[in-house]
Amino acid sequence: MAKLQDRVAIVTGASSGIGLACAERYAREGAIVVGTDIQDSEGWQAVVEASPQSRLHTLDVTDGEAQQALAQKTAAEFGRIDILLTAAGVGDGGPVGWLEEDAWDRVIDINLKGTYLSVKSVLETMCAQRSGSIVTVASVEGINGTEGGSAYNASKGGVVLLTKNIAIDYGRMGIRCNTICPGFIDTPMLRGLMDPMPDVKADIIGEVKMGRLGKPEEIAGAACFLASDDASFVTGHTLVVDGGYTAGHSHGIVQMMGLV
Ligand SMILES: NC(=O)c1ccc[n+]([C@@H]2O[C@H](COP(=O)([O-])OP(=O)(O)OC[C@H]3O[C@@H](n4cnc5c(N)ncnc54)[C@H](O)[C@@H]3O)[C@@H](O)[C@H]2O)c1
Repeated sequence: MAKLQDRVAIVTGASSGIGLACAERYAREGAIVVGTDIQDSEGWQAVVEASPQSRLHTLDVTDGEAQQALAQKTAAEFGRIDILLTAAGVGDGGPVGWLEEDAWDRVIDINLKGTYLSVKSVLETMCAQRSGSIVTVASVEGINGTEGGSAYNASKGGVVLLTKNIAIDYGRMGIRCNTICPGFIDTPMLRGLMDPMPDVKADIIGEVKMGRLGKPEEIAGAACFLASDDASFVTGHTLVVDGGYTAGHSHGIVQMMGLV
């Protein structure tokens, strides 16, 4: 039995990487997916093949009015909004003394304010139906600091706490809100950031206890669980999906003992 049969899902950042993988998984699980992004996507063919009523809209998550209009249109057309997944995001940062103000504003606007605006847009419908599952996408960098993380880490730390507050404020309305903190996932964003720094990338993979980058589909699996009735009593949760990156430190002792 498909886990999301006939659910209506809005997915932001749906053209690429994690958002696209989540849109595709939701569609394969029986949901109608209304995707939004600032760019088009060839990958959406697979989403529409799995769920023919699904479609992708051009929309900037920093545009609150456009988000409200799309949520109203979705509710009018399909009668409800069951799921919101917020994957739209950008990576940028650097040490604070080096970081320009407009770069700070852009990251906070898209990653944090964009999440707030996305959630705000679906609440009227979810409150009226007294049900809904909101899944935000933060990052392991929203839990722990990382060198040069500044704006990105601040934005994702904000998403982690915003998620908990939404869970607290709307739980009695039947609305659940959880966040996924991906580790390092092989997407166009990560390749854009890491491919120019192969030594840093190798060092990061060395810190991942499973010894590899994650795949977008592995985040989509968690996003499917949190959106579905399997997570019916899960809210305010921060679900880390990182191959053990944040589990703790390893110093080569088990290798020394011949375990791996
Ligand atoms: N890849 C990773 O290692 C990783 C790790 C932790 C968290 N994340 C988070 O996961 C989310 C998805 O990242 P990804 O790696 O799939 O990146 P990605 O670049 O492949 O996808 C991000 C999508 O967001 C869209 N987007 C950017 N700005 C937008 C805007 N203003 N309005 C609407 N859409 C916009 C982009 O066009 C793109 O399609 C992001 O929030 C990112 O911070 C990624």
